[in-house]
Amino acid sequence: MTEPTASVVPGASQEDKWSSQKYVKNASFVPVLGAPVVQLLNLQPHEHILDLGAGDGVLTIDLEKQCKSVVAIDSSTAMIEAAQAHGCQDARVVDGHDLVDHPLANGQFDAVFSNAALHWMKKDPERVIQGVNKALKPEGRFVAEMGGYMNVSEVRTGLHAALKKRGYDPEEYDPWFFPGVKTYTRMLEQNGFRVESIELIPRLTELNTDIAGWIDTFGFSFLRPFEGDEKERQAIIDEVQGNLQFSRDEDIWSIMYARLRFKAIKTQQ
Ligand SMILES: C[S@@+](CC[C@H](N)C(=O)[O-])C[C@H]1O[C@@H](n2cnc3c(N)ncnc32)[C@H](O)[C@@H]1O
Repeated sequence: MTEPTASVVPGASQEDKWSSQKYVKNASFVPVLGAPVVQLLNLQPHEHILDLGAGDGVLTIDLEKQCKSVVAIDSSTAMIEAAQAHGCQDARVVDGHDLVDHPLANGQFDAVFSNAALHWMKKDPERVIQGVNKALKPEGRFVAEMGGYMNVSEVRTGLHAALKKRGYDPEEYDPWFFPGVKTYTRMLEQNGFRVESIELIPRLTELNTDIAGWIDTFGFSFLRPFEGDEKERQAIIDEVQGNLQFSRDEDIWSIMYARLRFKAIKTQQ
């Protein structure tokens, strides 16, 4: 296995800007669309599961019904509080990058599950995989879906252009790591996993908000340079949405997602 790296990655540092209220209002499709990953996980009643980047726990509660126990972890205190309020049995604030040194990395879990969260762990994705590996039993499975290569490209490009125009380097504020099949397969294989399946799935995703609502919920990191300048923040949001008129069909806005879904088995530590 490779050693954890200490490099600082642009855009990787985020304070807790997650809002569980905005998540419910603008992103309730995220856990709903996680159903195929849960299916791929194929839980057994005796199993102990770790849900990495569990968010407000909607999917975690689903998992709890199908197995013995689930520990939900997330770096956002707001999201973990929401997960606890939703009734998750065991929900804790843990950053995915710190899992490798955490008591939960105890080789006791039958599977680590993750939906729509790994791409936020940009600082050091291999360190995250190493933490998952340490948490799993031998032959334990890592089953997840994350944003992959070309995910949300149209909004991401719009946000990059808006920041560049204002003299900022968008890379510094881009919080996402969207790997392709080759990159993530290599990362898994170099960190003690055998890849059983991995695919990039393009998915046109209807929003229950507009592009502005989506940026407010997920794109907050790009707006960091304009904290306190509500006028400029709004100007950026209006500009990005204004340039995305082709993403609208009457009153429905959509974004082209590309999801990387995989199942990997721990072969060595
Ligand atoms: C889009 S939400 C997905 C939540 C949930 N899995 C679901 O399917 O609804 C992404 C989650 O990843 C969490 N996250 C972001 N960076 C993280 C990190 N470094 N460690 C752990 N969780 C992180 C966020 O706080 C957020 O709750």
